[in-house]
Amino acid sequence: MTLDLIQIIFLFCLIAIKGKSNFRRIMTKILNVRKLGKSYTSGSKELPVLQEITFDIEKGSTFSIVGPSGSGKTTLLGLCAGLDRADTGSIELCGTDLGALSEDERALLRSREVGFVFQDFQLLPTLTALENVVVPLELQGAKNASKVGVELMEKVGLGSRLHHYPSQLSGGEQQRVAVARAFSNKPTILFADEPTGNLDAKTGDKIIKLLFDLNVDTGTTLVIVTHDMELAEMTQHQMRLKGGKIVQDQNPSIS
Ligand SMILES: Nc1ncnc2c1ncn2[C@@H]1O[C@H](COP(=O)(O)OP(=O)(O)OP(=O)(O)O)[C@@H](O)[C@H]1O
Ligand SMILES: [Mg+2]
Repeated sequence: MTLDLIQIIFLFCLIAIKGKSNFRRIMTKILNVRKLGKSYTSGSKELPVLQEITFDIEKGSTFSIVGPSGSGKTTLLGLCAGLDRADTGSIELCGTDLGALSEDERALLRSREVGFVFQDFQLLPTLTALENVVVPLELQGAKNASKVGVELMEKVGLGSRLHHYPSQLSGGEQQRVAVARAFSNKPTILFADEPTGNLDAKTGDKIIKLLFDLNVDTGTTLVIVTHDMELAEMTQHQMRLKGGKIVQDQNPSIS
């Protein structure tokens, strides 16, 4: 009888320890992508853009996605950030299954956890540069939105362009406003689609430093799409897409 009791307690402890280690394993992954597929319809034809994409991203890590033009990088980033829905497969972002969320719920998750630098910036043309950074913060109810906005604009080197409209800014300046906006909610994970694509080397280096400082200082996970191999090699993990499939997946810090 006593032996049975000891055996039961031992079994219980074993299950608890195993459960805890599984829990820890799940919690360290901020993004779990499984067998993801996405197609677009063009006329009557279906165009597969992503097929059987499976990968994980560790919380607090830096990760780059590279590959030729049209290989599906922007599409993949948009799906992972919950901007669009996949056709097949699953994505778990910050412990939440994106497939189970409504559009409003995905928007709420994005506003709390996600920063996104769009390849084409997507600044609102009727708002000034500063307003583009501040308005999303105000919508979230942030108290000192203006102060935070000005500080971020100064950080990206645009303290003297606060009241310019996007049409009055150069491509590189618009890109920097987009970076400032993506930082504004202190995201847990930041997706940046070619964040230095329109910048000269010096400004590009400054933005890269800002991105990596954010990773080091606040533990923000960094997911960068880039054609710049030097930038890709600065990240802990690199993944290469070709024709909508993963063709190379490596972690230089481990191998
Ligand atoms: N809304 C859409 N409707 C139809 N086809 C689309 C749509 N968006 C993207 N595509 C197609 O999907 C493919 C992948 O596009 P995506 O923008 O993801 O490529 P990318 O790897 O980001 O390319 P780049 O390096 O040029 O930015 C392309 O062939 C593109 O033409
Ligand atoms: Mg793209």
